[in-house]
Amino acid sequence: MGSRLKDRDAFLSYIDEAIRLASGFTLADLFPPSRLAGALSWTAHKADVCREGLFNFLDGIISEHKERRSRKEGLQEDLIDVLLRIQSHDSSHQLSMGTMKAVIFDLFSAGSETAATTLQWAMTELIRSPTKMSRAQAEVRKAFKGGAAVLEEGLCELSYLHWVIKETLRLHTPGPLLLPKECRETCKVLGYDVPQGTMVLVNAWAMSRDPQYWDEPEIFSPERFESDTRDFRGNDFEFITFGAGRRICPGMSFGLAIVEVALANLLFYFDWSVPDGKHPSELDMTESMGITLRRKRDLWLRATIHTKQPKPK
Ligand code: HEM
Repeated sequence: MGSRLKDRDAFLSYIDEAIRLASGFTLADLFPPSRLAGALSWTAHKADVCREGLFNFLDGIISEHKERRSRKEGLQEDLIDVLLRIQSHDSSHQLSMGTMKAVIFDLFSAGSETAATTLQWAMTELIRSPTKMSRAQAEVRKAFKGGAAVLEEGLCELSYLHWVIKETLRLHTPGPLLLPKECRETCKVLGYDVPQGTMVLVNAWAMSRDPQYWDEPEIFSPERFESDTRDFRGNDFEFITFGAGRRICPGMSFGLAIVEVALANLLFYFDWSVPDGKHPSELDMTESMGITLRRKRDLWLRATIHTKQPKPK
């Protein structure tokens, strides 16, 4: 939130807990119209506790921002300052404190977890394939050779890096079932009756690994996108990593930019190896299925400096 958040770890642990709670099915999901099932759901209770803790925590941060604004300190505006500014000009009072806290949480949870998961899988796949790792590193190092840093402006030249990210998003779809949708009216789909209130899940993970549409779908092959122009922007329905249509991810461009900058930096400044003399092919590739598709076990790699970071001016 602008400068480095001093209670960053506490905020991240709230996000972690919320993602964990959102990842499972509950009794209420199986019997949506049943109030009893809702009341008996322990997860719903835990979610309430988590939301209360998170909102109290955000209250503290918003108060700090309000104080800073009242002192008219000329710091650069961050997300919370912008929301407070909009709220102060909003005569219809639509941006309540509750909405503001939900927006803050939404942006950080939706944006950080997905991008971090993509980055972890991209590094996992590259370390398992030294030729692909060398090709990606050579491209980034050539593009930014002699430069002071890896700059966002130069990233558009990196075609191989883009294929790596695209292939990672295909093979390890970070939001495997997209976000749950609710059927608003009773309808029939392919002969099946779908009652109002049914939760609808779209298995984007399975679609982007479907052998009917992809050659060797289980193989990590960024090179496939040299000739394959299919994209994840919502027009190719076998590749809907960000969803499609009205509820497509609004943070797609931002998310991609985060992953590109982070991955380019990791490849530019460091060489990578697996610690403890393990062979990269021994890395555990188990995915933990939930609202996001994290690695089941954290990825531990050894970084060796290749290019020194420039000193800040
Ligand atoms: C690699 C990064 C990202 C991936 C793979 C991703 C993926 C997705 C997916 C699959 C959905 C659900 C679409 C659906 O259900 O049809 C979604 C929704 C959403 N994403 Fe992202 N996302 C990413 C980054 C971001 C970022 C950086 C932000 C904001 C800062 C963001 C904000 C949102 C929001 C607010 C929604 C809910 C939209 C709605 O319900 O209308 N995402 N994202």
